[in-house]
Formats: sequence, C-alpha cells, structure tokens
Amino acid sequence: MLAESIRPDQADMMIENVVGRYALPLAIGANFLIDGQDFLVPMAVEEPSVVAAVSAAALLARAGGGFSTGSTDPVMIAQIQLLDVPDSAKARDRILAAQEEILGRADTSPSLSRLGGGPKGVEVRHLPDTPAGSMLIVHLLIDCRDAMGANAANTAAEAVAPLLEKISGGRAGLRILSNLCDRRRAWAEVEIPAAAFHSDDYSGKDVVRGIAEANAFAYADSYRAATHNKGIFNGIDAVLLATGNDWRAVEAGAHAWAARDGQYRALTDWRVRSCGDAESIHGRLELPLAVGTVGGATQSHPSAQIALKILGLEARRQTGAGPDSCDQDGDVAAETRRRGARRLSEIVAAVGLAQNLAALRALATTGIQKGHMRLHARQLAVAAGAEGEAVESVAGQLVSEGKIRLQRARELLQK
Ligand code: MEV
Repeated sequence: MLAESIRPDQADMMIENVVGRYALPLAIGANFLIDGQDFLVPMAVEEPSVVAAVSAAALLARAGGGFSTGSTDPVMIAQIQLLDVPDSAKARDRILAAQEEILGRADTSPSLSRLGGGPKGVEVRHLPDTPAGSMLIVHLLIDCRDAMGANAANTAAEAVAPLLEKISGGRAGLRILSNLCDRRRAWAEVEIPAAAFHSDDYSGKDVVRGIAEANAFAYADSYRAATHNKGIFNGIDAVLLATGNDWRAVEAGAHAWAARDGQYRALTDWRVRSCGDAESIHGRLELPLAVGTVGGATQSHPSAQIALKILGLEARRQTGAGPDSCDQDGDVAAETRRRGARRLSEIVAAVGLAQNLAALRALATTGIQKGHMRLHARQLAVAAGAEGEAVESVAGQLVSEGKIRLQRARELLQK
C-alpha cells in the first residue's frame, strides 16, 4: 500500500478554506495492452467493480491484440465574445485579415512556443440572434503541448481582447477557454474474436451480437446514452483523478461532443464483423480529451506524480515557466507523442472503451448485479464495522442469504 500522499500543508496550498483531506482508494487497472505496449493503469474511484471489470475487459481485448489508439495535436480553443459590433461581416473580415498580429499578441508563453506549441489559428463565428442580440465569437486555436492548457488559453484570450475590440469596433465580453475542445481528441479501437466471449452459458456469437445491440440502443436513445456514457466515465474519471487531471472539464467536453448532431448519443461504436464463419466485435471510442502531464495538480499532488510514473509519463526536467509550461526539449513532437499528454489521452480513451466493453458484456448476458453484489456486500460489511477476515465472512453470508443490507451486515457482525 502506498503511504498517505498529500500533507496537510500541501492541501492547504491547493485550494481555499481547507479543513481536511479526503482520500479515495487508488487501484491498478491491469492487463492493458495499448499499441503493443503493456500498461498498468492507476485508477482512483469509490465504486466497487469498476477496476475488476475494466481489468477483465482489458484481458479480453488481448485476444484481439489489445487496443490501438491515436490522437490529434493538443489544440485548445479560447473564446472571446465581442458585443455591440457595428458591422459583423466587416469585423469578421478585418479580424481574419489581422490573424498574424492577433496570433503574435496571443503568444504569451515563450516556453510553449519554444516547444512547438502556442497560438496556431484564428476563427470567427457569428451568433446573429441570441437573447442578448448579435455577437461575434473569436476562437483562438492554441497548441498546449503537455499542459491541459486552461491557463494558456485563458491568458491568451485576455491578452488579445483589447486588440479585437479595436479591430471590430465592439466590446469584449467573456474571454475563456472552451471545454468543448473538439480539435483535441483521442480515440481507441479494439477488435476481439467472438470466440473469446464464449462461456458455458453463452455462445461468443450471442455475446458480441448483444454488445452491438446494446450500443445501437445507446446511439438511438438519449436516456440509455446517458447511462452508457456514465459507464465509460467510470473508467475515464478514475484515471483522470489518479493523474491529477480535471475530470469535470473532460466530462463537459465529452458530453457536448456526444450531442454534436443535436441528439445526445453513445460515445462508442460497437459492430459485429464477419469473416466467413468467424465473427468478431469491433469497438471504437473517440472524444475530446484535454489532459496534462505537467502543470496544476498533475505536479502538485504527490499521488498524481506516482500515477504518472506508473504509466511511464512522469514529467522530466522542468523549465519553471509557470503552471502551464511544458518540460521537454529535443525532438519535442515525438517525445510529446510517446510520453506526454497525448499518450495519456490515448491511454484514457482505451480505458473508457474497456470499461464500456465490460458493462455491455455484463448487461448483454447475466446483468451487472451478480458481480456487483459481492463487492457491494463487502462495502456494506466495512460500513457495518467489519475488519480483516470478518469482511469476507460477513459479505459471503449477505450474498448467500440474498440480503445485501446494512442492517443485516450489522446483525451478522454482532453474532
Ligand atoms: C454503472 O456504474 C455503470 C453502468 O450502468 C454502465 C452501463 O449501463 O453501460 C453499468
């Protein structure tokens, strides 16, 4: 067991009005084979079954050679809202014509630019008919390298706002990143032979068909999609939390992405593939993923540092250029790909896909309660005050009686 990781004085520096520390279990998602490389994945989560399920799914994925992943460049969007613009069309043209000057003004982090990142583009969108009237929205596209990039994006947005006011003749309102970072996406894919799903109770072909049917349900129905995607985030959030990343930002972006065609849908795609008599299931998950391996809690939280180390993604030498700074030099692009934030986003996508596979497999066969109840019973035994061997014996008794209740756990413990 790792020792308790964050000291009271560190907690006190991290946020305001601190009265204590709040710990979660840190576990290892096992069996991951991603792009031919083995990974042990640190996961911080309170829900029983999540880690066991994802590890079982990662083992299944090995039957198809593991996960293959990819990602875009780590480009964030910073938004500047312009109001009271006298002529939107002319202002738009003038802003686009002044792109070089705007990018120069937005270039507020020399260390980021040195590493190949920084402001890369300007876009203008017109919202003609909002409840507050017409507005122009300027997007700055900023490559954030290994940082999550909130600070870099917000600083750049604030830096260019006065220039944009001058060019457009309007008034700058909000200047803030967008969490719908659809230019910064990661994806994971897997293809597993149906035979790998075969058991005494279910044929592999029935199971893979059930998984594809479950996905079709979540694609077509938002009520189901919310639960389906929640299961994906059981895994994703756990890795984000363990590595000190902002899981609310990733959730917000992914849910907006899931509704990009106007309907909230499944983030995954699972289809049965046939080759002669043999069948397999192919799964894919793609989503916006703004994660960092430098800056913020990834560096200030000792457990996050350990988690990144377990993944082989720990930051090396620091440039000391601020919270959103990056730490590499040399062949920056290749290094970012191999060890940095992009790699983390790809691992996170693989974990999300595996977590979803575990849920759909269970739901399409025995249901999730059977496996879940044993772990839930353990939690109740602990909540009732059981320690050591008593945990398993109380939990076992709860399961065999079919009464998974706290009151019964207390009674058993007293006996
Ligand atoms: C429970 O935390 C997650 C599931 O509900 C996900 C799903 O239904 O796909 C099992």
